[in-house]
Amino acid sequence: MQARGVLNVQLCICGFSGQPRTVDMASFLRPPMQPNARGDSPTSTEPHGSATPGVASQIHALGPWFHNLDLRAEDGTLVQTAPNHFLGDFPSSFWHFFRDAIPQDLTGWSVLDIGCNGGFYSFEMKRRGATRVLGVDHDARYLRQAEFARANLGYTEREVEFRQVEAYEIDRLLPERFDLVIFMGVLYHLKHPLFALEKVASLVKEDGLMLFQTMERGSGESRAWEEDYPISEREVFFDDAFPRMYFVEHRYAGDPTNWWIPNPAATQAMLRTVGMQVQARPCVEVYVCRRQA
Ligand SMILES: C[S@@+](CC[C@H](N)C(=O)[O-])C[C@H]1O[C@@H](n2cnc3c(N)ncnc32)[C@H](O)[C@@H]1O
Repeated sequence: MQARGVLNVQLCICGFSGQPRTVDMASFLRPPMQPNARGDSPTSTEPHGSATPGVASQIHALGPWFHNLDLRAEDGTLVQTAPNHFLGDFPSSFWHFFRDAIPQDLTGWSVLDIGCNGGFYSFEMKRRGATRVLGVDHDARYLRQAEFARANLGYTEREVEFRQVEAYEIDRLLPERFDLVIFMGVLYHLKHPLFALEKVASLVKEDGLMLFQTMERGSGESRAWEEDYPISEREVFFDDAFPRMYFVEHRYAGDPTNWWIPNPAATQAMLRTVGMQVQARPCVEVYVCRRQA
């Protein structure tokens, strides 16, 4: 399914604003940067450091990058793929806030990373010993970056596999299921989010985990709701805390691929609806969920 608008470079925006906070931390101070946007939009792809031209120029040719990865130049120095990312060292700086919510030792685990982009989370899971890592994305350009990074980091195709798969068709991977499914920064880019989320959840093994993130807006208030209301009930829909999705008709943060932005209550309700039980919210917008048996 096509995103609206024609962009030469697809923008990836999500709600990370550079300083995730615990959900109940009211006094969050926003840093002086582009508000509420996480993305590959205006980042320079000019690598820096003392890298010899080979790796650096290939990085440049494959850009622009959304994931800032530390790769190895021919002379052994580190070269970054998106050193001027406006959110800094991204997504490393974001990962820092929820890395401890995932087991350190993933030996024996299988991991599916949907919307893998340049492969940051796929590589992190491999570093933790995951036995099988499959990263998928619908964008061939990002997959080329991930493959380049894989070779540079010294992993084989078997160790970290990348494949072009559309999220709406993720169930074509069945009957394989995974101990951990990563679905970060993709939901709000989907015109049909629940349709995809249901399929994504079906890829998690019973009792397996999902690491989930979506851009969220609106009230962060959370409370229990009745399971049913009479049709005469109208007031509840004026309550900011009621589960809602904001529909983006044209674009948000300049990005026409942003379609639906839930409030946290809607995120959690959707996760429950597809059989995922929220186990932890290590920072704003990030959920660790377990598939209910
Ligand atoms: C905001 S980026 C998030 C990347 C990474 N998951 C992260 O959290 O850093 C969104 C990624 O999802 C991919 N994506 C968007 N819509 C998709 C779809 N319908 N099917 C598969 N991948 C999709 C994009 O190509 C992009 O790599």
